[in-house]
Amino acid sequence: MSAPHHGLPRLLAGLEPGGAPMSLAAHTRIHGPLPDIAPHQLIEEVERSGLRGRGGADFPTARKLRAVAARRRVGPVLVNGSETEPASAKDRLLLARLPHLVLDGAVLAAGSVGASEVIVKVGEGAIDAAQAVSGAASVREHDRVRISVLTGPEGYVTGEESAVVHYVNAGVAKPTFVPPRPFERGIRGRPTLIQNPETLAQLALVARFGSSWYRELGTVADPGSALVTITGAVRAPGVYELAFGTPISDLLEAAGGSVEPLQALLVGGYFGTWVDALSAVGLLLAREDLRSVGCSLGSGVLIALGASACGPHESARVISYLAAQSAGQCGPCVYGLRAIADSFGALADGVAAPGERERLLRWCADVRGRGACHHPDGAVRLVESALRVFARDVEGHRRGRCDALPAGLPLGDSAVQPPGWGLTPRLREVAR
Ligand SMILES: Cc1cc2nc3c(=O)[nH]c(=O)nc-3n(C[C@H](O)[C@H](O)[C@H](O)COP(=O)(O)O)c2cc1C
Ligand code: SF4
Repeated sequence: MSAPHHGLPRLLAGLEPGGAPMSLAAHTRIHGPLPDIAPHQLIEEVERSGLRGRGGADFPTARKLRAVAARRRVGPVLVNGSETEPASAKDRLLLARLPHLVLDGAVLAAGSVGASEVIVKVGEGAIDAAQAVSGAASVREHDRVRISVLTGPEGYVTGEESAVVHYVNAGVAKPTFVPPRPFERGIRGRPTLIQNPETLAQLALVARFGSSWYRELGTVADPGSALVTITGAVRAPGVYELAFGTPISDLLEAAGGSVEPLQALLVGGYFGTWVDALSAVGLLLAREDLRSVGCSLGSGVLIALGASACGPHESARVISYLAAQSAGQCGPCVYGLRAIADSFGALADGVAAPGERERLLRWCADVRGRGACHHPDGAVRLVESALRVFARDVEGHRRGRCDALPAGLPLGDSAVQPPGWGLTPRLREVAR
């Protein structure tokens, strides 16, 4: 085990501003060689570390490792680098700039569950990530597993785990009905471990430096560090590595501060929750604190909405985007989300019929939990929080008042993006 570095940055250690992927030599200099750790020991260390998945579902990583390791004839480890959340940039940053850290985690995880292959899946647009991972894989002579890289279509639900498996198996990037879950029956019908790139990068460090080291940062309930993409009305949008438990106000400061007074923050990306700015800046980036206002960090995205923007209109664009992203397989998702988006749009435009808000809330309740995947659940979470946080603006719109400016929340390649809008989060790595 090489000497661990204390404090931050951890994942982003040694990352210089600018483009090239970190070489294997530089990576080994910073983190030390791949540790030789027994499978059961790695899983125990991951369990003690308290590491949880960073793809949005927040699932305990050791539990997933154990579930796959307990099975026979295990399939490839699948690195879910789809990063379909339009405002997120952390996974692409890891894959494009620190590919060896992610591959270390994938190779170690493969060893711990008895897999002999790793597949890294990224979106078609992430060419830099695909190239960096291929290049990194080609110089890793000591790995005992085969590594391949696969690109797939973009789209919000294509990153859902059963959709990734479906794509690898049959070229169709749509969720399948579960069970069986991928850990039971995944790639080529075999038990499959699927993890987010950040989860694997964290695992690579836990394997090297141990769970006690991992717990030096963060809180007891939320140990370690996290990559957060912050965008919107801040001076330096980008990807930041923070210890869990960091105040959101510190994150805003790290991102250069806000460009104007803020009215709200969207916490957790487009499956996330709007929180009014006053409540949000007093929160800590920790599960319990976030839960107290009904939100979670999700895939690690925070969007700051300036006072000059229109919460209802921004939300309407995002909800319309999410409705358009439905994979078209489940009635409540296809028709329900479309109706919800239209209803919310009418409220945002101040042209809603009497009782629209109540009808909309009823529809939200109707679609929740009614999809093969969690797409409808995430979308209605956003709708409900928008109705709560922007209630006064919605009422103002009914009376015909809105002089707000477009804030341009990013919507990927969606056709619903109006011209002139669309702020793409600039990658910015911070070594604190
Ligand atoms: C609609 C939808 C989209 C998702 N997109 C992604 C994604 O782009 N990347 C990702 O890692 N997880 C995504 N997830 C979560 C995955 O299904 C899965 O939980 C995750 O990849 C597991 O890795 P983790 O345990 O390391 O977080 C998505 C989930 C849903 C419901
Ligand atoms: S819930 Fe929606 S996105 Fe998920 S599988 Fe069904 S139709 Fe597709």
